[in-house]
Amino acid sequence: MIKSSFLNQEFAQIKKDFISFQWPKSPEKLYEPIEYILGIGGKRIRPVLVYASSALFGEHNQTTTNFGLAVEIFHNFTLMHDDIMDDAALRRGHKTVHEKYNVNTAILSGDMALIKAYQLLQTEDEATTSEALSIFNQMAEEVCKGQQLDIDFEASTTVSISDYIQMIEWKTSVLLGASMQLGALANKTSGRNQYHLYEFGKNIGIAFQIQDDMLDTFGNQARVGKRIGGDILQNKKTYLYLKALELLPENLAKELSSWFEGNSEDEDLKIKEVTKLYEEAMVKVYAVELMNEYKSLALSHLEAVKADNDAKKEDLKEFADFLIRREY
Ligand code: IPE
Ligand code: IPE
Ligand code: MG
Ligand code: MG
Ligand code: MG
Repeated sequence: MIKSSFLNQEFAQIKKDFISFQWPKSPEKLYEPIEYILGIGGKRIRPVLVYASSALFGEHNQTTTNFGLAVEIFHNFTLMHDDIMDDAALRRGHKTVHEKYNVNTAILSGDMALIKAYQLLQTEDEATTSEALSIFNQMAEEVCKGQQLDIDFEASTTVSISDYIQMIEWKTSVLLGASMQLGALANKTSGRNQYHLYEFGKNIGIAFQIQDDMLDTFGNQARVGKRIGGDILQNKKTYLYLKALELLPENLAKELSSWFEGNSEDEDLKIKEVTKLYEEAMVKVYAVELMNEYKSLALSHLEAVKADNDAKKEDLKEFADFLIRREY
């Protein structure tokens, strides 16, 4: 979890709420892997967004907690399946679920996590439940669409930067948007406020995924907790790749695209050479610029929110800053 000077109350609350949340004990092989993935860490940014968004409009309540748990459990469901799809052995510095157990376990425990997330959306208030379900359903469908595009793009040579932005909006950002909206819904604020908070989360989420791509190549493995260079090995059409292709002279652009034509025998060599080309193109500078653009857009939506607690808005601004500067 994040040690920060902001949103401490929210981070402490989510920790408590996860401790109190009881998973069934049997069948052990169904539930234990979910407890495993939830137990090895994670920044918990999505439930914190739910809690902070809810705190803009009133007291923390049981609905806030349920929605917070739902988005984090849903996120962990996507990770269990994503790590199979991305052939990733390491997550949060530990074995991924399919590595520790097996692929079938990661599929079914992942499914169960998704089901639990949906159960948590059921509140005592019918109207709130119905709105929560419609927010969640749209988000979940988009996450799947984003994941499919991410996989399709591995084998495509015609991906544009705007295709990439659409893909990350779906696979990552809409969950941050939905987290903000669900928090707002838990304290029954106006549709207008909900809209601006969704847009805040979505736009900061786009910047967040660009930073995730940067960390995948340029991060420190001990901090990031994932294998550095994993995206390169999977031929992921990240912003780094697409922008480098655009910026490099023709011969080097050709070299880069030929590295992405298949699987290299020498994985470390491929990571080293592609990283060198990204550095040569100075793509990092452009990535930071793009992240800042999305952050500004996010903040303009936060500004437009009519909150009861303006101090919480300041915390959310700091949190937005953290999300794009993070090193893990
Ligand atoms: C990882 O998300 C998956 C992405 C959408 C980039 P996080 O970086 O929030 O992962 P944890 O939960 O903190 O491990
Ligand atoms: C994750 O994207 C998006 C979802 C899990 C829906 P990535 O594949 O980039 O996430 P990491 O890098 O494995 O955490
Ligand atoms: Mg992936
Ligand atoms: Mg992945
Ligand atoms: Mg990634």
